[in-house]
Amino acid sequence: MRGVLLAGGTGSRLLPLTKVTNKHLLPVYKKPMIYYPLETLINAGIKEILIVTGGEHIGDFFRLLGSGKDWGAHFSYEIQEGNGGTGAALLLAEDFVRDEEFMVILGDNVVSEEVTCFVEDFKKEKEHFKAKILIAKVPDPHLYGVVDFKGKKISGIVEKPKKPRSHYVNTGLWMFLPEVFEHLKQLKKSPRGEYEITDVLAWYAAQGLLTYSILKSPWTDAGSFDSLYKATVLMKQLELKTSRQ
Ligand code: DAU
Repeated sequence: MRGVLLAGGTGSRLLPLTKVTNKHLLPVYKKPMIYYPLETLINAGIKEILIVTGGEHIGDFFRLLGSGKDWGAHFSYEIQEGNGGTGAALLLAEDFVRDEEFMVILGDNVVSEEVTCFVEDFKKEKEHFKAKILIAKVPDPHLYGVVDFKGKKISGIVEKPKKPRSHYVNTGLWMFLPEVFEHLKQLKKSPRGEYEITDVLAWYAAQGLLTYSILKSPWTDAGSFDSLYKATVLMKQLELKTSRQ
């Protein structure tokens, strides 16, 4: 399975930290933020990885990550012109993905568990579903894409609602079949003026074609001051826990 890591966008919620660098290069505890989603992919056995980022800081990404040899992986790079949103960024992966299922991770997502079993599950589930998302239970769902259920199935995803209908949210970890690119090409801009992968996920959900698993350990993104701090604390706690085992 191939992996796509989305690390574009402006990081405007973190200004002025992102004035002269890309959000995904900022520190989270002992490492640059992008190391965590990269490790999540690599620990799941995904070694062919496309990194999509804006052109402005591409040299810094190259210097930091290189070819992937030091990680026992192979990294490719695509430049996203402008900030068209996650949907526009993922569209750049069409040639890279070829004809297999693949995993997407947002570059500001920090996960404290291995996702290998979910990747293996999707290989079987793809007979009946077109996409899979990993969801997390959080205390502050209004900050994320909130998952609506009908029975045990996901019936919709509502982006940052004022009155969330559940505490389960869309993390930035998704698995797709290559047919997703046809849907991405049909996307219309969202109210925040971007092409959003969430809109494709919501469409799959409405068709009953979206499966999911619930993360068992803490997860956060790191795209705001509070969540960046939370991610740092989470990684520190994880290190303490691992060193005690
Ligand atoms: O982190 C989980 C959340 O991520 C989900 O709960 C939401 O449903 C999903 O829409 C997304 O929400 P955000 O508001 O956090 O998305 P944001 O625009 O901050 O982008 C998240 C990542 O996507 C960012 O780290 C890099 C990538 N990205 C974003 C944009 C706008 C790109 O690669 N290119 C882009 O143009």
